[in-house]
This record gives sequence, structure tokens and C-alpha cells, in this order.
Amino acid sequence: MSIEIDILNGDASWPIAEPLHQAVWGPDLVEKLPWGHVKWAHADLRVLIETPEDGLVCHVGIYFRTITWNGQKAHVGGIGGVCTREDRRGRGYATMAIDAAVHTMRANEAVRFAILFCEPHNVAFYEARKWRAFTGGVYCEQPEGRVRFTHMAPYVYDIVSAPTLGTIDLCGLPW
Ligand SMILES: CC(C)(COP(=O)(O)OP(=O)(O)OC[C@H]1O[C@@H](n2cnc3c(N)ncnc32)[C@H](O)[C@@H]1OP(=O)(O)O)[C@@H](O)C(=O)NCCC(=O)NCCS
Repeated sequence: MSIEIDILNGDASWPIAEPLHQAVWGPDLVEKLPWGHVKWAHADLRVLIETPEDGLVCHVGIYFRTITWNGQKAHVGGIGGVCTREDRRGRGYATMAIDAAVHTMRANEAVRFAILFCEPHNVAFYEARKWRAFTGGVYCEQPEGRVRFTHMAPYVYDIVSAPTLGTIDLCGLPW
């Protein structure tokens, strides 16, 4: 079976990604979740995996941001909105899409490490893919101002090298 992996501009490709997002995180589900009220950043790029039979089966958003770690500026990559069509899971699509996202970050020489935020039930999935828990504090912006981000667990990945302790300020909306 042939698959196509595209990496497209985040805003331009949102109409392609939106139906899959709605299927995985519909408004009825999201409003009941602890992070349902969070205002999220828009992806800069999107990894989209499509097959001729099924169309879009998997999505990963890629974010680039200059954050601070312990007050020092660092350019990082982020991933978010990782989702595979429910009836097409367990075929390696998310693994492939995350690999493509990490590869894209490596191509940007300024990126020091990658950050994602995940729910407890996905921790094992990311730990099996060499992401490590960031056990320090994370701050971000929300419409009401700068807040500590505690809704999901931060995980980091070495592009050059990632810290696991200290304080990260995302200097913008979370992803
Ligand atoms: C998590 C998710 C993206 C995985 O997509 P997928 O395309 O099925 O992933 P892959 O096929 O690449 O990997 C599946 C593998 O991970 C394992 N796996 C999947 N979800 C897991 C989880 N929550 N915890 C531990 N392992 C998990 C599978 O057992 C399988 O293992 P194997 O490769 O050893 O057989 C998908 O289940 C999903 O869309 N979930 C709902 C949205 C979500 O929670 N997204 C994550 C946001 S942080």
C-alpha cells in the first residue's frame, strides 16, 4: 500500500487536517477535558499522512518558537495535535509522522530540542519513542496573561540536547 507524507504550511493545510481533528477531538469530548478551555497556538507546519484508499489518516502539527529555559533564550521545535484516524491506528502512522516532524526540526540548525505535552495515557507511547519527561515548571501565555501550564505533562526530545529540569517559558500560547 502506498502512503504519501507531506509537510505543509500550517494555516494553509488546516482545512485538510480539520475533519480528522474534529473526529478525534470533537467539541463534545473536548469541553469535558481538563484542557478543554486552553487557547492553543496554531501549527507552523503540519505533517499529513495520506493513502489513496483512505485520504488523510494521520496528522502532526509542528511549531517553532524561541522560548526561555531558566531565563536563557532557546529556539525549540514543538509537536502537537498528534492523531491517527481511529480505525487506522496501530499501523505505524503516528510513529512515521513524528519521525518526519523531528527530521524537519533537525533540518533547522537553530533548534536545540523538541517539546510536546501529553495526557497520562499517552506517556508510554512517547517514552517508547525516546521522549523524556521535563520535570520542571512550564509557563505560557493565555488570554488572561502568563500562567503556569499544568494541564498536560511536558516531554522533551534531544535535537542537540534537551533539559529535563528548570523552568521553561513558552513565550506564547502552548501547543
Ligand atoms: C496515540 C496515537 C496518535 C497513536 O497513533 P498510531 O498511528 O496508532 O501509532 P503507531 O501505529 O505509530 O504506534 C502504535 C504503537 O504504539 C502503541 N500505542 C499506541 N497508543 C499508545 C499509548 N497510549 N500508550 C502506549 N502505547 C501506545 C501501540 O500499541 C503500538 O505499539 P507497537 O508499535 O509496539 O505495535 C493514536 O492512538 C491517537 O490518535 N490517539 C488519539 C489522539 C491522541 O491521544 N493523540 C496524542 C496527543 S499527545
